[in-house]
Parts: sequence; C-alpha cells; structure tokens
Amino acid sequence: MQGYWWLLVLPVFWLLLLSCCLTLVTANSEGDALHALRQALIDPKYVLQSWDPTLVNPCTWFHVTCDAENNVIRVDLGNASLSGTLVPQLGNLSSLQYLELYSNNISGSIPSELGALSQLVSLDLYVNDFTGDIPSTLGQLANLRYLRLNNNSLTGAIPLQLTSILGLQVLDLSFNNLSGYVPTNGSFSQFTPISFQGNSNLCGPKVDKQCPGEPPLPPPPPYQPSPCPSDPSNNDGS
Ligand SMILES: *[C@@H]1O[C@H](CO)[C@@H](O)[C@H](O)[C@H]1NC(C)=O
Ligand SMILES: *[C@@H]1O[C@H](CO)[C@@H](O)[C@H](O)[C@H]1NC(C)=O
Ligand SMILES: *[C@@H]1O[C@H](CO)[C@@H](O)[C@H](O)[C@H]1NC(C)=O
Ligand SMILES: *[C@@H]1O[C@H](CO)[C@@H](O)[C@H](O)[C@H]1NC(C)=O
Ligand SMILES: *[C@@H]1O[C@H](CO)[C@@H](O)[C@H](O)[C@H]1NC(C)=O
Ligand SMILES: *[C@@H]1O[C@H](CO)[C@@H](O)[C@H](O)[C@H]1NC(C)=O
Repeated sequence: MQGYWWLLVLPVFWLLLLSCCLTLVTANSEGDALHALRQALIDPKYVLQSWDPTLVNPCTWFHVTCDAENNVIRVDLGNASLSGTLVPQLGNLSSLQYLELYSNNISGSIPSELGALSQLVSLDLYVNDFTGDIPSTLGQLANLRYLRLNNNSLTGAIPLQLTSILGLQVLDLSFNNLSGYVPTNGSFSQFTPISFQGNSNLCGPKVDKQCPGEPPLPPPPPYQPSPCPSDPSNNDGS
C-alpha cells in the first residue's frame, strides 16, 4: 500500500505541466501590448472597458480589428477623451496597419518603437499633447501613406529619414514647435507649406524662409524672376 502513493501524485503533476504549456502556447503578445497601453492611458469615458487581458486574444475588444489570422490590424481610438501616454509595447503589434489616436489629450513622447510597425499604413496622432522629437525610426515605415502629427507640441528637427517613405501621400506636421531645415527631396518634393505651417522656427525653401547662418536660398523660386506675366499688354502700347 505505502509504495503506491505516487500513483495519486503523478496525474496532478501531469495536469500542472499541461496547463503550463497550454498557457505558453496561447500567450498573446498583442493582447499584452494593448493591455499595457490601457494601463498607461486615462480613460474617463470607459472606452477601453472591454479590453480584458484574460481573453485568448484581443480580437473581440471594442476599437480593435483583427485579420482572419487574429492579428491586430487596426486600433481606432480617435476622439475618445483619452489622456496619459503611449507605451513602447505598441511596437509589438507587428501586423498593425492603422493606428488612429487623433483628437485626444495624450502626452509624453512618440515611442521610437513605432518604427517597427512594418505594415503601418496610417499613423494619426494629430490634436494631442505629444512632446519631444519625431522619432527618426518612423523613416522605416515603408508602407506608410498617411502621417498626421499636427497640433501637438513636438520639438526638434524633421528627421531626414522621413524623405525615404516613398509612398507617403499625406504629411501634416503643422502647429507644432519644430525647428530647423525642412527636407525637400524624396517624398517631401510633393508637400507644400500647408504641411509645415504653424512651426515658427522651420526654415528652407519649402517654407520660403532662409535658415540662420546659411547663404541665401539657392535657386530663386520660379515665380520671382518672371516679371508681370499676368499683364503682358501693359508696357507695349507706350
Ligand atoms: C467627438 O466625440 C463627441 C462625443 O464624445 C462628439 O459629440 C463629437 O461630435 C465628436 N467629434 C468628432 C469630430 O467626431
Ligand atoms: C514587446 O515589447 C517590449 C518593449 O518594446 C519588448 O521588451 C518585448 O520583448 C516585446 N514582447 C514580445 C512578445 O515581442
Ligand atoms: C483636452 O483636455 C481639455 C481640458 O481637460 C479639454 O478642454 C479638451 O477638450 C481636451 N481635448 C480633446 C481633444 O479631448
Ligand atoms: C490646429 O491648431 C490651429 C492653431 O491653433 C487651429 O487653427 C486648427 O484648427 C487646429 N487644427 C485642428 C484639426 O484642430
Ligand atoms: C510652441 O509654439 C506655440 C505657437 O506655435 C507657442 O505658443 C508656444 O509657446 C511654443 N511652446 C514652446 C515650448 O516653445
Ligand atoms: C534626402 O537628403 C538627405 C540629405 O540631405 C539624405 O539623408 C536622404 O537620404 C535623402 N532622401 C532621399 C529619399 O534620397
């Protein structure tokens, strides 16, 4: 009799081992990343109430959209009265295409880890309280088409790396506190002063303002040398 005690213990041991391994298999890093975001945000309207980290994945949470393989592809939290900060774990949402956080009161810096979101199409952080620099890592977002960071308090220079996002269609950096030279090459060749207005310390031909300590703007803009093209008959009759 005494020798058989282990027959009772063995099943318990196997059950413990099994439940441990199942937990590892179903561990959801995307749910963890979004839950970390929830904990860093202040949510007076309870828009994140359905974000339950004990579920197998975040695909049933409100304001979260997944693809057929249960990868998170959208986070839609624009105009949701959120404050607090973003978290570096957002860089773990490796299938994310749309990050919509506009018109809130989110503060702190833009995490450089967002540069890891290789599938990102749209990054909308406009009308918040973000401070600090625009991370140069955002230049790695090869699929980005919409980058709207306007109406924050961002400082520092515009990273030259952003010029290499060749598919960028919409850029809005207006109404921040950015300074220094506005790039003109790459994807920036198509953007007009509207993208940069309301940053009193930007300079260069894009914003028609000479940079301090630089020689005068190289080739004059085409509208300066042409004298009165709109009124050709004026000087002819006299
Ligand atoms: C923002 O949300 C409020 C309700 O919280 C709504 O009244 C308002 O119309 C929304 N604004 C926009 C631009 O969607
Ligand atoms: C999630 O992101 C954090 C911070 O960037 C990192 O330390 C962690 O390894 C990531 N986890 C996974 C599962 O990718
Ligand atoms: C940010 O907070 C201020 C003060 O609490 C509020 O008046 C304003 O409407 C908020 N902005 C947004 C975009 O929610
Ligand atoms: C951004 O700020 C400017 C200047 O304060 C303001 O005129 C404009 O309406 C703001 N844009 C948005 C989308 O709130
Ligand atoms: C940022 O710029 C705004 C106007 O564009 C100005 O009112 C504000 O004082 C500036 N803030 C800092 C910290 O320079
Ligand atoms: C634009 O010019 C800067 C240097 O002035 C360079 O670092 C960057 O790679 C250029 N971008 C493209 C797309 O060629």
